[in-house]
Amino acid sequence: MTDSESKQPPKRPLRLLPLVKVHLPPLVVPRSLGWAGCFGGLALVQFTIQIYTGILLLIYYKADPMRAWDSVTFIKSNVPMGWLIQRVHTVSAKMMIALVLMHMARVAYYRIYRHPREWHWISGVILLSLTTFMGFTGYLLPWTNLSYWAASVGTEIPTAVPVVGDGIATWLRRGPNVSGETLGFFFAMHVAVIPALIAGVMGMHFIMIRRTGISKPL
Ligand code: HEM
Repeated sequence: MTDSESKQPPKRPLRLLPLVKVHLPPLVVPRSLGWAGCFGGLALVQFTIQIYTGILLLIYYKADPMRAWDSVTFIKSNVPMGWLIQRVHTVSAKMMIALVLMHMARVAYYRIYRHPREWHWISGVILLSLTTFMGFTGYLLPWTNLSYWAASVGTEIPTAVPVVGDGIATWLRRGPNVSGETLGFFFAMHVAVIPALIAGVMGMHFIMIRRTGISKPL
């Protein structure tokens, strides 16, 4: 893999916070990146769409088993443009997972996971897991029959792990079965914990990319 690191331009300080200065070279994008090289950037665009549409949905959504389904129905039928915001949020969640997988497939195909980009790959695997978990927790929020059983089956999977499996499943459900407690827990994960983790790991992913530059496929 030939790449930009052989001819690195001089490093320029990047100010992240008033007190933190990281010395990184300017980003060099190879001309031969091709359309498949856009999947990572497009995944970032999808993430931004998810944050904005998610904040709008939060205005009316109620994370309570007695009101969750009604609140989603209200958003779709009564809130001006609510159906559009809800649709964009659902469709772009699926697109984000598809784009992250396509981005990963490109990286695997060109073997860009090798030195000096092994930590790009490791942070990417964490991002893929977080993105999947984001989709899984979000699926329960409308509190439909389908989402209830999807969460029941999904949280059953860890029970296959010896010794700790049952404990993990009970921890995820906040009890022996999927209930209102699970809804509250998944809601907190979906709107606060996982997005914050994704944003943090993405930041590290991008700093690593700035350090090595984007590779030039043969
Ligand atoms: C939320 C998910 C992700 C976002 C937003 C993201 C974003 C990006 C962007 C914008 C780039 C630079 C342009 C490019 O090469 O495409 C990049 C590079 C890279 N990403 Fe990701 N990425 C994500 C997930 C992943 C995953 C799942 C993996 C692999 C497991 C991965 C591994 C890499 C590697 C190895 C590079 C360096 C590619 C090169 O130098 O050509 N990323 N990522």
